[in-house]
Amino acid sequence: MDALERTILIVEDDEGLQSQLKWHFDDFETTIVTASNVQEATTAVRHYRPAIVIQDLGLPPDPEGVEEGFKCIKEILKISPSAKIIVLTGKNEHRNALRSIQHGAFDFYFKPVETETLDHVVERAFKIAQLEFENNALSENLEVIPGIVTANVKMKNICRVVEKVAQTRVTATLIGESGTGKEVLARAIHKFGSKSDEPFVAINCAAVPENLIESELFGYEKGSFTGAVASNIGKIEQANGGTLFLDEIGDMPLPLQAKLLRFLQERVFERIGGRKEIHVDLRVVCATNKDLEIMVKEGTFREDLFYRITEIVIDIPALRDRGNDSILIANHLLNKLSTSIVGRAMILSEEASIAIEKYHWPGNIREVENRIKRAIILSENNVIHASDLNIKDSPNTPSSINLKEARKNAEVEAIHSALEISKQNISAAAKLLGITRPTLYDMMRKYNLPSETDK
Ligand SMILES: Nc1ncnc2c1ncn2[C@@H]1O[C@H](COP(=O)(O)OP(=O)(O)OP(=O)(O)O)[C@@H](O)[C@H]1O
Ligand SMILES: [Mg+2]
Repeated sequence: MDALERTILIVEDDEGLQSQLKWHFDDFETTIVTASNVQEATTAVRHYRPAIVIQDLGLPPDPEGVEEGFKCIKEILKISPSAKIIVLTGKNEHRNALRSIQHGAFDFYFKPVETETLDHVVERAFKIAQLEFENNALSENLEVIPGIVTANVKMKNICRVVEKVAQTRVTATLIGESGTGKEVLARAIHKFGSKSDEPFVAINCAAVPENLIESELFGYEKGSFTGAVASNIGKIEQANGGTLFLDEIGDMPLPLQAKLLRFLQERVFERIGGRKEIHVDLRVVCATNKDLEIMVKEGTFREDLFYRITEIVIDIPALRDRGNDSILIANHLLNKLSTSIVGRAMILSEEASIAIEKYHWPGNIREVENRIKRAIILSENNVIHASDLNIKDSPNTPSSINLKEARKNAEVEAIHSALEISKQNISAAAKLLGITRPTLYDMMRKYNLPSETDK
């Protein structure tokens, strides 16, 4: 993998200090660039994309204040969100140092400069910049098709199937839990097809009220029902030439299923209240998180429609069944979202990464997205911790059918809850659990659970 370019930009208006820093870091196997005000700094950032910026807070025209320094931080991050800015500030300026971090600086350092300590700060910044750089390179490589990050063999196969299906006009149905990427894949089928310039039109059968799905889908003629003051074309006509995405097809009301089937078989339909047959040429992609086969058995989904839409079935695995995709996707989303939300790059702490790998992700990638977004907003620095993600292990979800494991998980969960409720008081927790104190201690030792007294 390529290495990060070791370039440092020094933004300092004091010429003496500027040369001292330049001279010092020249020994560092780095390229040094200097600037003495905001404008020079932004020009240098555009030119050199320095990984590290060492920046004075007091800059002209306001060398005694800090506002120009804050402005400089913002301007630099606007151009290069991953730049690690280390702010130099006076000894008694703790508040301003913290404010710089809020503005997106990576770290601060109090003057006078003591080069040995500054070296550590700079090396640490380089290390983190290098990690982010590698992460970025990795997640770019891992985007198998646009919008799908994966290193999982099953998912890679699915992407290949999607590319193949795109070359045909068969009706494909994507089956997967909520948040597994059904819509992204449906759009990919459209995008990879020969009609990608034509419209992609989606209708979510679960989101549209039952009595409106028919008119949404087929359109209506003026006067066909109260309120139909003008004719309206439906989603099917809008999608003509391109792709119609029937999302949550399992929620299609039974009476409408017959009409849909006729349309799928003949590619012909009438608007509500209309007499004219309308012919369309389009591809249909369906998606559902329901088990359609069970629905067929229960009589809530028509068997003939089921066979019609399942010419090709794409079963999308849940995130928890995709190996370490959770961590890859979390890193990818963190890279992408942190720069767009707060204008700077962030990384996951090691314990956050472990928590992500262990978690069950019932809401799949959508949940990863939500938790990462929340953590980015809440985090006070550039590192996301497990607590920012607010995930707890989810042993209640039966990830294992091994009885011993299930019992262990249940016990650990109960102990955690009891300790939380009793504010870590062992006697009270034992009472809540209906066991003696020594038994609780034994169990905590057995399961490697730290008690407050160990801390
Ligand atoms: N493999 C992936 N890599 C990166 N991002 C992904 C991946 N899969 C899905 N996403 C993102 O996760 C979110 C959920 O995906 P999508 O809407 O396609 O899922 P869905 O199965 O249709 O979910 P729902 O059932 O909630 O409608 C989207 O923002 C999507 O961009
Ligand atoms: Mg969806």
